[in-house]
Amino acid sequence: MKPLELSCITGIWKSALSILGESLTSIGQDLQLWFPWGITWRGHDLRGHLPPTDLPADLVTEGVSRFGGRLWKAVPVQGISWLLSVRAPQSATPAMESLHIPDKAIESLRMLSDFQILESMLGLSMKILENQAREHIGHWDRVRNLAVAIGEQMGLSGRELVEIELAAVLHDIGKVGLPSELLESADRLNPDQKKIVETHCRVGSAMIREIPGLAKVADMVLCHHEAPDGSGYPTGMVRDDIPLGSLIIAAADSFDAMTHYRPYAIERTYLESFTEMNAEKGKFAPEVMHALESVLRRLGIIDAKPLVGTSEDW
Ligand SMILES: [Fe+2]
Repeated sequence: MKPLELSCITGIWKSALSILGESLTSIGQDLQLWFPWGITWRGHDLRGHLPPTDLPADLVTEGVSRFGGRLWKAVPVQGISWLLSVRAPQSATPAMESLHIPDKAIESLRMLSDFQILESMLGLSMKILENQAREHIGHWDRVRNLAVAIGEQMGLSGRELVEIELAAVLHDIGKVGLPSELLESADRLNPDQKKIVETHCRVGSAMIREIPGLAKVADMVLCHHEAPDGSGYPTGMVRDDIPLGSLIIAAADSFDAMTHYRPYAIERTYLESFTEMNAEKGKFAPEVMHALESVLRRLGIIDAKPLVGTSEDW
């Protein structure tokens, strides 16, 4: 499973890196900041995130280490050993040794540590879901990326995007108690089975509502199968009653299903799937579909065929 990294955390990474970068300018260049993720390390530099990497365990020691033409210094914060690294000459070692990490940078690392724990908990929940049904592998991640891209395209605020991102990651969490045979059934579900699967909106929403501050996220999860024409579930709400985030997640969710879990998925371009979905009048909000089309065009993939079975193609 790809490690989870919420896009709303990007700003905190940038601020931590720029504060640390200021204190390191006299020592070295090309600052990187890493933290342990299972048996590998995940890192960022000022351009964005770096590929997960194996780093020698002895880098996490007192003082400064030298590895790969870089100086490395461990900075323990909130029980996590963050690794700071710069490309620097050997002569820079004493300066790196006595480097004072500004309080503002420690504060950013503290926030990043908290978010890392949150991401790990979310990742754990998604892993449980992925183990339960094959259709979930990578689905939540692609829906999350696409929903955020649609929301950005629609000009939503940072706060709204954070809520949409969380709701998109968690939209099917209510399936966690459902039997795998139902979720993985190759046959059409009968009405009773359908009813059982449809409970996942209410169950997931109730689980999320327990978490303080996530009432809007819970609402979005509750309504992610509602449709503007009233044909959705669980309550058959109509357009203006459905949260915009739910309409966005509904479009991203269906688009991902259409491009990854249909027998023809591998043969059709994104545009062909989009066109079929767009023809289902009343099922999706037109402004969301318009934004989805713009995202596909902006990414330059509208004429491409999906890479079925991976979570890396968004
Ligand atoms: Fe769902």
